[in-house]
Amino acid sequence: MNNFVSMKTMQTEEILHLIKQTDRFANDGLSKTETDKKRFVTNLFYEPSTRTKLSFEVAEKKLGFEVIDFQVDYSSVLKGESVYDTAKTVASIGAEAVVIRHPLDNTVQELAEQLDIPVINAGDGAGEHPTQCLLDIYTMYKEFGDLKGLNILIVGDIVHSRVARSNAYALRTLGANVSFASKPEWQDQRLDFPYVELDDAIETSDVVMLLRIQSERHDQPKPIEDNNYLEKYGLTIEREKRMKKTAIIMHPAPVNRGVEIDDSLVECKRSRIFKQMEYGVYARMAVLDHLLNKEEPQYGDNYQTVLAHVD
Ligand code: NCD
Repeated sequence: MNNFVSMKTMQTEEILHLIKQTDRFANDGLSKTETDKKRFVTNLFYEPSTRTKLSFEVAEKKLGFEVIDFQVDYSSVLKGESVYDTAKTVASIGAEAVVIRHPLDNTVQELAEQLDIPVINAGDGAGEHPTQCLLDIYTMYKEFGDLKGLNILIVGDIVHSRVARSNAYALRTLGANVSFASKPEWQDQRLDFPYVELDDAIETSDVVMLLRIQSERHDQPKPIEDNNYLEKYGLTIEREKRMKKTAIIMHPAPVNRGVEIDDSLVECKRSRIFKQMEYGVYARMAVLDHLLNKEEPQYGDNYQTVLAHVD
């Protein structure tokens, strides 16, 4: 593995290795040799981000990397510099890896083929969001111990969601049953997963993963407040009451409270939304460490994998 741009072709062993590493960083922190030299990485965000950008930054700093600051609005992007030339520039300056978010599908994959340092996909258009997927999977392992046979319901703007795509691919690889619930016009027929009625599936799902309406990728965005979306397609209090006792609520955030989920459910007992953010740091540490630190990981005394019982 030289890049981290898609979950589609990722094998079970690779996913599980990264999940174990996530757990190692969650439990043990770092060994001393991992923190010694000054090394650089950069985060090229061509789209807004709060969680992903900050969490990559924290993960990079915890691993001992210096983060080369880059802000599109104050860069030569405004003078017409291409993504490739920008990335090649930061590589020449000394970045050992490029973390990149870009509004166009496949820009990240193309860059990964052109650059000779690792490229990490922090979200490409409606394409993929593999590190979000990794932290989501880790959240589920922490909750359930194993994903085989779990019913995962992904609800909302499927066709415009890179989170839905990466999760669907990886969860299927790991043996979970993935289904989607969505407005008809937001279904993605290129994805081979069943569409179900939210009101039926809510009672049998172990994980209900909600998605924000991705208005920035709509041809004709409508105001989200106007349309009774919550009652028709969102997680209302009434639907939450019908969820399985052990089921959890997830959401990659940002959340539009009162649109895809009732405001009061965002921090309810079943919600793992802020836990996901916490785990995002460890998942990103796992990816960066895997790509940039080639030594075998040293597991400390506190290391307890959430996967101890998984083959
Ligand atoms: C997601 C994204 O950017 O794709 N957010 C995130 O990275 N946590 C989902 C979204 O913006 O709705």
